[in-house]
Amino acid sequence: MVLKISLLFSLLFAAFLLIISCNAANANERKVRIVYMGEHPKGQVSAATTHHTILKAILGSDSSAKESLIYSYRSFNGFAAKLTDEDVEKLSGIWPEHESFNDVGLGAPPSKWKGTCQGVNFTCNNKIIGARYYKSENYYEGTNSPRDYMGHGTHTSSTAAGNRIVGASYYGVANGTARGGVPGARIAMYKVCWFLGCSSADILAAFDDAISDGVDIISVSIGAFWPIPYDEDAIAIGAFHAMKHGILTSNSAGNDGPSPYSVSNYAPWTLTVAASTIDRKFVARAVLGNGQVLTGLSINSFDLHGKSFPLIWGGDAANYSAGGSQDYSKYCITGYLNSYKVEGKIVFCEVLWYGTGVREANGAGIIMADDHITDFAFNFALPATQISTSDGEKVLEYIQATENPTATILLGETWTDYMAPYVVSFSSRGPNPISPDILKPDLTAPGVDILAAWSPVASASVDPDDPRSVDYNIVSGTSMSCPHASGAAAYVKAAHPDWSPAAIKSALMTTATVLDPKKHVDLEFAYGSGQINPTQAIKPGLVYDANETDYINFLCKQGYNTTTLRLITGDKSSVCGSTSPGPAWDLNYPSFSLAVVDGQPIYGLFTRTVTNVGSPNATYNVRVSSQPGFTISVEPTTLSFSNVGDKKSFTVKVTGPKIAQQLITSGAIIWTDSDHKYVVRSPVVVYNVLPTPYIDYSIPQKKQTNFQGSSVYHKKNGILGRD
Ligand SMILES: *[C@@H]1O[C@H](CO)[C@@H](O)[C@H](O)[C@H]1NC(C)=O
Ligand SMILES: *[C@@H]1O[C@H](CO)[C@@H](O)[C@H](O)[C@H]1NC(C)=O
Ligand SMILES: *[C@@H]1O[C@H](CO)[C@@H](O)[C@H](O)[C@H]1NC(C)=O
Ligand SMILES: *[C@@H]1O[C@H](CO)[C@@H](O)[C@H](O)[C@H]1NC(C)=O
Ligand SMILES: *[C@@H]1O[C@H](CO)[C@@H](O)[C@H](O)[C@H]1NC(C)=O
Ligand SMILES: *[C@@H]1O[C@H](CO)[C@@H](O)[C@H](O)[C@H]1NC(C)=O
Repeated sequence: MVLKISLLFSLLFAAFLLIISCNAANANERKVRIVYMGEHPKGQVSAATTHHTILKAILGSDSSAKESLIYSYRSFNGFAAKLTDEDVEKLSGIWPEHESFNDVGLGAPPSKWKGTCQGVNFTCNNKIIGARYYKSENYYEGTNSPRDYMGHGTHTSSTAAGNRIVGASYYGVANGTARGGVPGARIAMYKVCWFLGCSSADILAAFDDAISDGVDIISVSIGAFWPIPYDEDAIAIGAFHAMKHGILTSNSAGNDGPSPYSVSNYAPWTLTVAASTIDRKFVARAVLGNGQVLTGLSINSFDLHGKSFPLIWGGDAANYSAGGSQDYSKYCITGYLNSYKVEGKIVFCEVLWYGTGVREANGAGIIMADDHITDFAFNFALPATQISTSDGEKVLEYIQATENPTATILLGETWTDYMAPYVVSFSSRGPNPISPDILKPDLTAPGVDILAAWSPVASASVDPDDPRSVDYNIVSGTSMSCPHASGAAAYVKAAHPDWSPAAIKSALMTTATVLDPKKHVDLEFAYGSGQINPTQAIKPGLVYDANETDYINFLCKQGYNTTTLRLITGDKSSVCGSTSPGPAWDLNYPSFSLAVVDGQPIYGLFTRTVTNVGSPNATYNVRVSSQPGFTISVEPTTLSFSNVGDKKSFTVKVTGPKIAQQLITSGAIIWTDSDHKYVVRSPVVVYNVLPTPYIDYSIPQKKQTNFQGSSVYHKKNGILGRD
C-alpha cells in the first residue's frame, strides 16, 4: 500500500512521514529503499531538495546523500535511495525540548489518558504526553526516537497546540507572538511507517493505540498517491474506527492542486482541509545598477545594507569541466556553476531553484525569474528573490547591455495581501474522486507562509546545506492548514465534549467564512464550505449529525457488500442488506454535491436532518441562493424546535435543464433562526461527470443494476486528475 503519512493528534499531534519499501533481509545492508513521505511542506522548493535534506540528515554528509539518492519522484512525494535499515529509522518526529512544548502551567495529563512515551532520549512532559512508534517488522536495529530532524513534525504540532511564545520570528521576519490553535491542549505523537515494509497494519495500530490511549482529535496528514477505495485505505479505515469511538480525524487535502480530482482523504467521516493564504505576503526587491527596482517573492532575512555587487547571468558562468553548459547554468543548477565567475556576485537564474548551486559557487545572492509560483514564498540560505519572467527579461537585457552590471537585494519586507484569504494554487481540489456526491475538500484553513516551531537541527531554509539553526520557520502546505483545523476541532470539542465527530465537523463547516468565488474558478472544489471560523463554530445553532449506522448505509449505497463493508468496520455484525446502490443523497452531510451525467438534466433529491444545539426554543427559516441555471427548493422552509437535541428533517430538490461540460456551478442553503443568532450554511454544488454503465444520476428511482461503486466507474473512465 502506497500512502503518505502524517499523523498528528491534538491532545495529540504527531509528526509526519513516512513509509515504505521493499523487504530487507539484512538490516545493515545498504539497499534500494523507496521512501514515501507525508504531505510535502510547500516551503520546500523542490521534492528533490527535501529528499536530499532528509538523506543528509541521516547519512551525515552531502556527498553520501548525493551518492545514495537514486530517484527523487516528483509526481508523488517520495524518493528511492540506498539506505540501511538503521538509516531509515532516523527520519522525522518532533523536537520535545522546544519552548513551544514546555509544560509550564500544565498539570498532569487527564486521568483518562492511557498513553505512554516510548522514545529513546525522548522525554515526555505534561505538554507532550505521549510518543509511540510502529514497526511492523521487529528485526530492525538502531535508535528509536521520535525526534524531529526535518522540522515538519515540530511545525505542525506547534501549529495545532503549541504554547504561546512572545517574540517568535524567522530572523526577525514575522516577529510576534506564536501560538497553536489550542495552546492549552496536550500533544501525543504516533510515528508510523518510518521504515521499510511499513504496512497498513502499522497505520491501523497507530489509530488503534490513539483511540485506546484516549485522544480527543486525530490529525492525519496522509494521503494515497492516487484515489483508492475506502476498504483499501488504512487511513479511511482507521478514521472510521476513530469515528466509532467519538474521535474526529482531520486530514490534509493534499498539495497536488490545482488539478481537479486531486483531493486525497475524501471519506465522509473525516474532515478534509484545504490551504488558504493569510493577509501577509513576503517580498524582497532587487535593485539593478541602472536604478530599476524589481519586486519578487521571498522570505529574505539578509540585509546587504544597499551594497551593490557585480551581477552575472548564470548562463555566462557554466562549469564546463563538470559537464555543465549554458543550458544548465542559466538555471543555476547545483554543480553546474563556475565559482571563478560567480564568487562574490549576484547571479541571475532563469528558474526558481533552491539556491544551493549559487551558494556552493560562493555567490553573493540570487535573482530568480519564474512564473510558476506566485502565491507563496520561499526562504533561502543567501540573499535571494524570485521575480516574474517578464521582469527577468529586463534583468537579462540590462546585463547584456551593460559593461559592468551590478545589483543589490534589499532586506525582505512583509506586505499586506489584500486578496487574502484565497485557496493557494497547490492545495488539492475536488471533485471527490471516489464518492461524487460528497463534496471535498470540506473546508480550508491557513496554510501559506506559516510561522511555527522548527527543529534546531533541521535546515533553516529550502537549502538542505544551510548550516543555520532556527527555532521558528516559515513554510507552506496543507500539512500546515490541517493542524489549524485540528486545533479548531479540539476547541469545539472542549466546548462540547459530548458532540459526535460528525457534529464537530458540521459545526466547523456550517459556520465557515465563505471565500470569494471570483478568486476561485473551481469555487467549492477549492474551498468546500469556506474558511474555518473557530469562534463561531462553538455555537453553530444546528448540526448535521451522523453516526456509524449512517456511514454504513452510505457505504452500502456506494456499492459495498457485506464482505467489503466489514473490511472497513471490522465488525462481523455489519451487513449491507438489500440496499440498492445509488447516489449518496441521503447521507446526512453538511454540504450538497450533485454529479450530473454530461448532457443530462440536473436532478437531485436529498434528505437531511438537523439537530438543535442552539437556543431551546427556536424557529429557523431557510434561504437559498444559486448561480443561474438551476433551482434549489427546500421542503419545509421553516423548522421549529422546542428543545435542545430536537431533530427536524427536510428535503432538498435540485433541478435544472440539461448541462454539459460544467466544471462546477454552485449555490447554498442557509438556515437562520428568527433572532438572527445562528446562520447555518451549506454549499450546494452541481457538476458534470462522464456517463457510466453503473449508475445514471439523472434518472431518479431507477433500479440500478451491476453497480460496483463510483470508484470503479471513475477508474474505468480514466478521468482521475491525480498523477
Ligand atoms: C539527547 O538529545 C539531545 C537533543 O538532541 C542531545 O543534546 C543529547 O546529547 C542526546 N542525548 C543522548 C544520550 O543521546
Ligand atoms: C521582536 O519584537 C520584539 C518586540 O517588538 C522586539 O523586542 C524583538 O527584538 C524583536 N525580535 C527580532 C528578532 O526582531
Ligand atoms: C566545477 O564543478 C565541480 C563539480 O561540481 C566542482 O568540484 C568544481 O569546484 C567546479 N569548478 C568551479 C571553478 O567552480
Ligand atoms: C444512529 O442514529 C440513528 C438515528 O439517527 C439510530 O437509529 C441508530 O441506532 C444510531 N446508530 C448507532 C450505532 O448509534
Ligand atoms: C463483494 O464485493 C467484492 C468486490 O466488489 C466482490 O469481489 C465479492 O465477490 C462480493 N461478495 C459478495 C458476497 O457478493
Ligand atoms: C418560543 O418562541 C415563540 C416564538 O418566538 C414564542 O412565541 C414562545 O412564547 C416561545 N416559547 C417559550 C417557552 O419560550
